Amino acid sequence: MPSIFAKISGIGKYLPDYVLTNKELESMVETNDEWIQSRTGIRERRILKGEGLGTSYMAERAANAALEDAGTAPEEIDAIIVATVTPDYFFPATACLVQKRIGAKNAYAFDLSAACSGFLFALSNGGNLIESGRAKKVLVIGADKMSSIIDYTDRTTCILFGDAAAAVVLEATDEEIGIIDYIHHTDGDEECMLYQPAGGSVKPASEQTVKDKLHYLRQDGRAVFKKATHGMADVSLEIMKKNNLEPEQVAWLVPHQANLRIIDATARRMGLDKDKVMINIDRYGNTTSATIPLCLCDWDDQLTKGDNLILSAFGGGLTWGSIYLKWGK
Ligand code: UT7
Repeated sequence: MPSIFAKISGIGKYLPDYVLTNKELESMVETNDEWIQSRTGIRERRILKGEGLGTSYMAERAANAALEDAGTAPEEIDAIIVATVTPDYFFPATACLVQKRIGAKNAYAFDLSAACSGFLFALSNGGNLIESGRAKKVLVIGADKMSSIIDYTDRTTCILFGDAAAAVVLEATDEEIGIIDYIHHTDGDEECMLYQPAGGSVKPASEQTVKDKLHYLRQDGRAVFKKATHGMADVSLEIMKKNNLEPEQVAWLVPHQANLRIIDATARRMGLDKDKVMINIDRYGNTTSATIPLCLCDWDDQLTKGDNLILSAFGGGLTWGSIYLKWGK
């Protein structure tokens, strides 16, 4: 057990105003509200509109909200980690842009790329910085403008994703609260089940890659669904067992919001009733790195200090994992 713990002392979110409903998608691709709701649980998602607005625009706003909630001045932040797969640029990191704009002049900043598990990986890494004594306060942000890599003529992917950002302030405490444990996994996706084919060093952008629509997200939905259902349920149970947690001791499951059926399977495996599961996929769709901190924001007023939370995700990479967190606010 560490002698310093990392607790969440503030949270904040940013959601774009534009609501893309299933109804509107019906006019864009051959789909229908009934199919989308029954297969995914999604009713609507938010889309960031506006020329020149990228992921940093949302991340900055979520960060400021989290700082305000924590009562923390930006100068107190030692490090900023932005989890994203839709950075403003390949470099500089989106975290660097956020650092400048929020005035966190004493922080170093970097992005972390682990797709839908990005926020969990960033949170555990931020926690490690604090537990090591190297940092006192770390800002961890999950932000993705998924609409920037979605093909809105492809019905198999365009119905799934939305844009959002949410952030937490992690701070050092000697109380046994905050991040208690985590288990993370990776299984390199050489089969390309979930990826963005071009734009990287293997296939740099060209006229042909644009024509071939290779800058959009591609997913073998069925294959990822199978892996995600097992991966997320297994790791959630694994962290409960490792920490001797019975279902009645878990206050909330905070799952990545990719598909309601994956969330339900995870809760069943953990032996949790549905009323202990945070679900907002119906309103926001899959916002990749932002889903888990968005849930924390939406359930903030129902959380009590000391509540045992299990945060779980599965995503591209392939990456998956769980964090056992004792609520610290
Ligand atoms: O967050 C990152 C990790 N990602 C995930 O965890 C996502 C995992 N995958 C999934 O959530 C699901 O696989 C999807 C929601 C993407 C798809 O649901 P599914 O139940 O696996 O559907 P399917 O791909 O097996 O497709 C069933 C049928 C197909 O038609 P046929 O071949 O049976 O005639 C599709 O063409 O549904 C069709 N279909 C649609 N129909 C209406 C696919 N997309 C749509 C659509 N509207 N939007």
